[in-house]
Formats: sequence, C-alpha cells, structure tokens
Amino acid sequence: MIGLNIESSCDETAVSIIEDGRKVLSNVISTQIEIHKEFGGVVPEIASRKHLTNISYVVEEAVKEANVSFQDIDYIGVTYGPGLIGALLVGVSYAKSLAYALDIPIVPTHHIEGHIAANYLTYEELKPPFLALVVSGGHSHLIQVKDYTTFEVIGKTRDDAVGEAFDKVARVLGLPYPGGPEVSKLAMSGERTYQLPKTKFENLDFSFSGIKTAVINIAHKEGDKLRKADLATSFEQTVCEELLHNTLLAVEELKIDKVVLAGGVSANRVLRNMLNELADKHHFKAYMPDLKYCTDNAAMIGSAAYYNYIAGNYFNIRDKMDLNAIANIKIGD
Ligand code: KG4
Ligand code: ZN
Repeated sequence: MIGLNIESSCDETAVSIIEDGRKVLSNVISTQIEIHKEFGGVVPEIASRKHLTNISYVVEEAVKEANVSFQDIDYIGVTYGPGLIGALLVGVSYAKSLAYALDIPIVPTHHIEGHIAANYLTYEELKPPFLALVVSGGHSHLIQVKDYTTFEVIGKTRDDAVGEAFDKVARVLGLPYPGGPEVSKLAMSGERTYQLPKTKFENLDFSFSGIKTAVINIAHKEGDKLRKADLATSFEQTVCEELLHNTLLAVEELKIDKVVLAGGVSANRVLRNMLNELADKHHFKAYMPDLKYCTDNAAMIGSAAYYNYIAGNYFNIRDKMDLNAIANIKIGD
C-alpha cells in the first residue's frame, strides 16, 4: 500500500511517499526557517504564501525520489490540524485536489499522531500499547496510546508548551529562532547554578510558564552579569526533570513498560539521555525518533495516515468534499 503524504502545519512544506506505513520511499522537506528567522518566529501569513509556492515542487520531488508514478499511489495522507490555519489549508487543499484528480481516498491526519508515529519509522518492532510523552512547539502531553488509532490524553500543560518555553528563553538569551536547539547548544558549556521553580499538580498536568518567567526575570535583573550558559543549563535540566517526573508517575500508575518520546523537543540531547537513564533504573523500555523524524516532516504523517487508512478512517473526496483544516483540534477527538 503506497501513500503520498503532505505536512504543512507550520514552517515546513513536507511531502513523503510511504509504503505499508513503515517504509520511507521518500521524505522531502522544504524548510522556511531562514525566512522566519529574520522575524524571530514564524509569521503565519508568510508561511502560507511560501507553502503555496513550494508545494507542487515538493510533491514532484517526493514522487521522483521514491521512483513511483502517481498511478502507484493508493491514498493521500494530509495533516488537517492542529497548526496555523492558513498553512494547513494549503496542504489540505492540495491533497483534496490531488485525491480528486487521481480518484483515490484521502486520510485526514492529526499532526500529533504523526509525531508519535515517527517512532514506527525508527523501530520496526514497536507496537502499541505504550505511553507517549509528546513535546513540541505547541504540545506537552502525556498520552496513553491504546492502539494505532486510539489515544487518551492523561496529562498536559496548563499554559506554555515546552518547545514554546525553549523558544522564549532563547529570545531572552539573544539566540535565534528556532530557539530549542540553540538553548541546548549553549547549555552544553554551562553549569546548573540557577535555582528555578517547579510546579506540581495533583494530576499529571505540566506548567512551564512559571519557569519561563523566572528565567526572564533573572535575565533582566542580572543584565550584563548574566551567566547565559549556566541559565540555559539550569533551564534545560529543570524542564527535562519536570517532564520525566510526570512520565514516571504515569508509568507506575498505568503499569506500562514502553515509553515513546515524540515532537520537536524529542531531539533534545538531555531529555533523550535522562529518559534512557530513567528507563534503565525503572525497568521500562524507552523509544525516541531518529533525529531526522523529530521535527516536522511528512514521513511521520505517512505512518500515522497508513494506520488510519487500514482502520477505515478515510473517505473518497468525490463523495464528500467538505474536509477542512482545523487549527486547534485535540488529539483523541
Ligand atoms: O514538533 P515541532 O517541529 O513543531 C511543532 O509541532 O510545534 O517542534 C518545534 C519545537 C520548537 O519549539 C523548537 O525550538 C523545539 O521543537 N526543538 C527543540 C530542539 N529541537 C527542536 N527544543 C529543545 N531542544 C532541541 N534540540
Ligand atoms: Zn510538529
């Protein structure tokens, strides 16, 4: 079964060709990072326009690289949310037109299900059930993945997402967008000398705005005397501990033996190391996506789309044309 998959929820125009949900025949990404860097973050209107000018070319490249023809494609997978509405609409409209022209089904795919599925591309043997720690620019969720298409959110951030906190901390430290990798790079040369606040709730929820604000206040108070690398290290380690504290609680509560990391922040070196150490100590198995599948790409969307396709979660666009992009759709809805 061959799927052509489109991801355009933020600042990457990405298209993949995936066979049977796990074999990546091509994975083409056209990133707009350099354009948005000038503005210190993603400008939604510019993102939509760039998707529009890029998408046909990226689709053609993906088909060419996979060495398939349009007639070989069985279905189209497309991210329909969550994300920037204008950006999503470009991918969704393109997918609808292509599915119409080729008369093949369309599989609307949730972006976060895609991030989780990035692990299926990395580990041939990985199957649900497992616990997923989803950490991206928009999400910090603990999700019980019951099977390939059934998800239950058991904890989430009450304010900022962890990637968002990394990006804001980067800005206050004078680092460019996207801030996560930059903060992490700087943190390698620092020491944990700053005490930062942690938040505890009675359930498995997270909060990252308190720690972000503490970092901003320290930076403003210390001015030129600020030890930037130390602050980056302190922030990174505190945040990772927060994430893994709740993860361990969930592992124990659910008596689960597999934990999967997902989302852009899963590229973080400290988080990956800490999760591996925790897994060794508490006898569960840790999974994390290959670095090339951590941040937004269409290969991960292709894997999630495949499992939705075989579960019957698709339709023929000629029968039902009203598929829309949804900016804030929740996982599990
Ligand atoms: O999943 P993603 O590519 O896009 C969303 O769905 O949001 O995640 C992007 C986020 C950004 O906030 C970026 O700063 C963060 O992931 N990120 C990192 C690292 N690489 C990307 N954060 C910390 N450490 C990293 N190495
Ligand atoms: Zn993402």
